[in-house]
Amino acid sequence: MSRMGLCTVWYLSLLSSLIQVSLAEKDFFTSIGQMTDLLYTEKDLVTSLKDYVQAEESKLEKIKKWADKLDSLSATATQDPEGFLGHPVNAFKLMKRLNTEWAELESLVLKDMTDVFISNLTIQRQYFPTNEDQTGAAKALLRLQDTYQLDTNTISTGNLPGVTYRSTMTAEDCFELGKIAYTEADYYHTELWMAQALKQLDEGEESAVDKVTVLDYLSYAIYQQGEMERALELTNRLLEIDPDHQRANSNVKYFEYQLKKQHQEESEKAMKGQEKREKRAPKTKRKRTNDPLPERNRYEQLCRGEGVKLTPRRQSRLFCRYFDNGRSPRYLLGPVKQEDEWDSPRIVRYHDIISESEIATVKELAKPRLRRATISNPVTGVLETAHYRISKSAWLTAYEHPVVAKINQRIEDITGLNMDTAEELQVANYGVGGQYEPHFDFGRKDEPDAFKELGTGNRIATWLFYMSNVTAGGATVFPDVGAAVWPIKGTAVFWYNLFASGEGDYSTRHAACPVLVGNKWVSNKWIHERGQEFRRPCGLTEVE
Ligand SMILES: *[C@@H]1O[C@H](CO)[C@@H](O)[C@H](O)[C@H]1NC(C)=O
Ligand SMILES: *[C@@H]1O[C@H](CO)[C@@H](O)[C@H](O)[C@H]1NC(C)=O
Repeated sequence: MSRMGLCTVWYLSLLSSLIQVSLAEKDFFTSIGQMTDLLYTEKDLVTSLKDYVQAEESKLEKIKKWADKLDSLSATATQDPEGFLGHPVNAFKLMKRLNTEWAELESLVLKDMTDVFISNLTIQRQYFPTNEDQTGAAKALLRLQDTYQLDTNTISTGNLPGVTYRSTMTAEDCFELGKIAYTEADYYHTELWMAQALKQLDEGEESAVDKVTVLDYLSYAIYQQGEMERALELTNRLLEIDPDHQRANSNVKYFEYQLKKQHQEESEKAMKGQEKREKRAPKTKRKRTNDPLPERNRYEQLCRGEGVKLTPRRQSRLFCRYFDNGRSPRYLLGPVKQEDEWDSPRIVRYHDIISESEIATVKELAKPRLRRATISNPVTGVLETAHYRISKSAWLTAYEHPVVAKINQRIEDITGLNMDTAEELQVANYGVGGQYEPHFDFGRKDEPDAFKELGTGNRIATWLFYMSNVTAGGATVFPDVGAAVWPIKGTAVFWYNLFASGEGDYSTRHAACPVLVGNKWVSNKWIHERGQEFRRPCGLTEVE
């Protein structure tokens, strides 16, 4: 069965006005838009923490003064106690000190300076990311590592393309990432990240994690991937540091036993003469835990900017032109810049088609409403989140703001298609690692009911605005035909999902590549069949 199912939240837009749909509320890691709030929260908390530190310091300072004063006083007094107390003022002061001052000191020492800070923290903690967020962010990093074929050292040294705020990972960060992979039984990434942690420790990095712990995970991950000898080697290294390590000691025995058995079997086979297989064949390169499907390979290639399949001959037939669709008076004065991105399926890009201020308005409207994008389970029809669609999205209706109405009208003017039957404008924000794996926008033959409730037919076409540049990653790719379209702020791309006959065009299968660096904002309009009967302009169908 298709993993993709019907990948939309389309009926959310219909329901949301009736009921408050409460989806996963947080999932911070899926959207940078909402993560920025966390930065400000953290900044406030740091201020509060510093206030606390100052309060503790001044308290300690007072206590210290008191101690110093008493120290010298009692030093003098004990040299000649009787002579000292023979002075009436000294006698009075001793009474006063013991009766009141020590009590005051006691309350000062006991005074709780933590309350303001702790109550601040407790309040803010409710809005903090959860374990799921942390795991989600870690998995996003691992996904990026695979898609963009980055080695652990590149990631750990923060040496990513185009980054402004370079950020490095400590051995402990690497260890924590490896541990998350480990809890997912993803031993491929466990090994990579534990090895990176070990490398940094070997290079002398000071760290709270120790080599023994790292070696313990590392050797286990390697054992799990079937490399007994290397696992043994590393376990022995662990034992050099910590000879009494119980698990390592028993593992060594187990590894040695298994290896001996292997060797015996091999020599028995060799004796029987039936075995001439190259004995110590070069180890096959270990694979990612989720061995990628061929489509996934193509998808990831395109995301990296490789494997775009357009012959120069076809390339030479793609043009830029000023375009007005010949029917709308609105663009006669200012035709729009239209550029061919691909020939089949035909994908066109419109330049300078949404202004900076319109983008800002759309983002502001969407931000408070961003929710983790869901898919409708193809079996149960229930909306759920899925690892292959990681973003947050919101729907904007025309009556909410004139800008939304204006944008809808513009799409209608340019495409010549009727927007009355289209879905609302959807706004999506992809955080780092945010992606939408290959899917179709239209409902397929095996999903005849896909858009039944809408009563507007299938999704005839897709309009997609790019509302940000993406520093690295984040392309829209079409794996079947080998096309890649890169986000450029202020532009939009458009393609038909259905042939003029109403048949689905399977070559429109597409995906949103994971964002490697930066923040991706898009908005899209899914246009439906009803109402287009006399409208679909021939100009856009000629290549089909
Ligand atoms: C922490 O508490 C102080 C005093 O109650 C308040 O002024 C401040 O805004 C609070 N900060 C946060 C982050 O809640
Ligand atoms: C976005 O990228 C395009 C082309 O790469 C560039 O011309 C434009 O200035 C960039 N816009 C912003 C806001 O950075």
